Amino acid sequence: MPLVNVKEMMEKAREGHYAVGAFNINNLEWTKAILSTAEELKAPVILGVSEGANKYMTGYKVVADMVKAMIETLNITVPVALHLDHGTFEGAQKALAAGYSSVMFDGSHYGIEENVEKTKEIVALAKKLGATVEAEVGSIGGEEDGVTGRGEVADPLQCKMIADLGIDMLAAGIGNIHGQYPANWQGLDFETLAKIKETCGHMPLVLHGGTGIPEDMIKKAISLGVCKINVNTECQLSFAAATRAYIEAGKDKEKKGFDPRKLLAPGTEAIKQTVKEKMEMFGCIGKAN
Ligand code: 13P
Repeated sequence: MPLVNVKEMMEKAREGHYAVGAFNINNLEWTKAILSTAEELKAPVILGVSEGANKYMTGYKVVADMVKAMIETLNITVPVALHLDHGTFEGAQKALAAGYSSVMFDGSHYGIEENVEKTKEIVALAKKLGATVEAEVGSIGGEEDGVTGRGEVADPLQCKMIADLGIDMLAAGIGNIHGQYPANWQGLDFETLAKIKETCGHMPLVLHGGTGIPEDMIKKAISLGVCKINVNTECQLSFAAATRAYIEAGKDKEKKGFDPRKLLAPGTEAIKQTVKEKMEMFGCIGKAN
C-alpha cells in the first residue's frame, strides 16, 4: 500500500475511541521494526521523523524513498503515514516536496499571529499535495533533537484559532514533556484538555511525550479527544538496554557477533516489543481495516 496521509486514520480513531501510535524513526532498523510490528498487529501506524533524524539519515528524500521502498519490499498492507515531527516552516516545505504524506508545523514558539500566518501557508501547500498537517499551540516541555519547549499549557481559545485554519490535528501542551518524566511530575492537565476538546469540537488531538505516561492517563486522554500519541524516547531506551545487555554478555566477541546485523538485532527486537506494548495501550491493534 502506498503512503497515506492521516485524515482517515484520525477519523477512524476518533470514532473508534483509540489512538494511533506515532513512532519516531532514526535509521533503517527502527523503520523495519516499526513497520513489521504494525503489519503483524494489523495496526495503522505513523512514522515520525524529526528534522534532526532527517539530517542524520542524510535528507528528506532518502527517508521518503527508504520508507516507500520498505513498505513495498516488506509487503506492508496496513496504512502507513510518513510524518515530519516538530517541523520548522522551511522543514515542512522540504518534507512535503520530498513526498512526506503528513507534516507537523510547530509554530508554538512564535506569537499566536505569526503561528496562524505560517500554519495557514503550510496548510495551503499541504492541501495541494494531498498531505495532512498537525499544528501546535502551547509548547511541549523538555528537549527533543534540539527542539526545546518550556512546557506551557495551551490556551483553549488560541487552540480554536489554529484549529480553524484547516489543519487535520492539533498538538496542545497539557503538562506533557519529551523524554522521561521527573519523579515530581504533576501528570497531564485534563481540565485544560477537556476545555480544548470543548472549544475545538471534533479536531483530533495529539499527545506528545508518550514515553512513560501511565495507562490510566493515556486512556483518559483518548476519551478526551486524543487520536495520535507520539513515542520516541521509550524505543531509544529499549534499544539501548538490549544492545548494552548483548555487549555486556560479551556476545560481540563470540564468533561473528560483531557483525552489525547481529549486534543491532537485540535492539531491533526490543523496539518491536515496545511498539507492541504501546499499540496495545493505545487500542489500535487490529484497526488497520
Ligand atoms: P517522547 O520522546 O517523550 O516519547 O516524545 C516523543 C514525541 O512527542 C515526539 O514528538
